[in-house]
Amino acid sequence: MARPQSRFVCQSCAESFLRWEGQCRACGGWNTLVETVVREPSRSDRAIARGAVSGVAKPAGLAAIAEADLPRLCIGIGELDRVLGGGIVPGSLVLVGGEPGIGKSTLLLQAAAGLTRGPGGGVTVLYATGEESPAQVRLRAARLGLLAGPSAEGVRILAEHDVGRIVEAARAERPGLVVVDSIQTATVDDLDGAAGSVGQVREATLRLMDLAKGDGIAVILVGHVTKDGSIAGPKTLEHLVDAVVNLEGERYAALRLLRATKNRFGSTDEVGVFEMAEAGLREVEDPARAFLADHGGAAPGSIVAPTLEGSRPLLVEVQALVSPTGYGNPSRKASGLDPNRLSLLIAVLGRRAGIALGSHDVYANLAGGLSVAEPALDLPLALALASSTRDRAIPPGTVAIGEVGLLGELRAVVGLERRLREAARLGFGRAVVPRPGAGAPLAPIDGLEVIAVVTLRDAIEAALSDRPVAHGEAVPAMLG
Ligand code: TYD
Ligand code: MG
Repeated sequence: MARPQSRFVCQSCAESFLRWEGQCRACGGWNTLVETVVREPSRSDRAIARGAVSGVAKPAGLAAIAEADLPRLCIGIGELDRVLGGGIVPGSLVLVGGEPGIGKSTLLLQAAAGLTRGPGGGVTVLYATGEESPAQVRLRAARLGLLAGPSAEGVRILAEHDVGRIVEAARAERPGLVVVDSIQTATVDDLDGAAGSVGQVREATLRLMDLAKGDGIAVILVGHVTKDGSIAGPKTLEHLVDAVVNLEGERYAALRLLRATKNRFGSTDEVGVFEMAEAGLREVEDPARAFLADHGGAAPGSIVAPTLEGSRPLLVEVQALVSPTGYGNPSRKASGLDPNRLSLLIAVLGRRAGIALGSHDVYANLAGGLSVAEPALDLPLALALASSTRDRAIPPGTVAIGEVGLLGELRAVVGLERRLREAARLGFGRAVVPRPGAGAPLAPIDGLEVIAVVTLRDAIEAALSDRPVAHGEAVPAMLG
């Protein structure tokens, strides 16, 4: 067989060149050329293209397609199975992303061990590592307590970065799952580009996809995420794979959030919560309260928000600090929150609620290293800012949730009842929320006083006072 040729293909106009150049000569784009393997179509491929082969695929009506249950391999780590939609599907290609050092290798080694313990004797797992030596992997396995039991034999370690040899080993051993740690160190023989270049990463992924689809072996790729949050090398990867799962968290905090951003075999709504402990990642018992900060009592600038991650409510403490600017421009810093929303809320607070922060430094963050993009976090953030500015604590046991509009009006949020029930379960007694629309009254919730308000100004008055709410400014819920 002739060695496949490599070409440099422009990613914006698809023109191909023999050598790499900084600028595409056809369309003028800069840095758009990516090394790509060019395969001459074989005779049988051409025959199929002409439709010369009998047995050409025929379309079928939707109803005529036989129903098939997706078989799944259960990993036995509840939070991970949940995020994947109930286990890993044979023949699927999953990308696990996350910043370096966040715990991807740890999670996958634990998952590999989990599969070997599965029902009916489990399956074997081929763990190909291009980053660490087998001795390093063994050291981690010892720490995780995996050197005894089914994982001792069932997890097969291969120190290899060449994709051809990984695929060969997988075809010989026929494991249930192949883990490639990481796709950025994987290389393909036919390309000269360095490991981690777009061309290498994409070609390596394509070959592993062949393995997954052709042989029915599930493949998990580890992908390091760069600073700006994209999976290094390639957004190109995300559309090739069946599922993308991200492991998030602060490296120096213990909590980790596992979130599916794409899943062809399940919903992308699920999140899993883990804690990095001495012996690997541990599932958190009560995820809803995991992100609540532990401190003595109420302090100015803090309030709890019942956020919703997919179908799972997570309570998180929003903290803000407002202090007069010493000199120069006031600074605004947000961590775990959208900085644009913070600027917008500062403007709305100034114009619509009489809280001017133009000459104040503002810092805001979510406790526990969580990152939340929901607009429903507007109201708690605005309340935390107001509380810090007035130096008055919001009474403990209060939660707030709601989106804030430019006019200072509050907008309803999805899943309000589910959020409030979870808050009540965790012992919160008071909630400040947008007034639900006429068509969607809120059912009363045991033990929770719900204060439904229309504007941000009312919400601030309601949250910062512990006196009973007067008529006109806020109405208790149970409107229906
Ligand atoms: P690792 O899985 O190597 O991260 P990644 O593959 O995403 O780069 O995990 C890195 C960190 O996890 C490392 O700093 C040490 C810590 N760790 C623990 O705290 N407990 C453990 O049991 C293990 C195995 C790792
Ligand atoms: Mg690693």
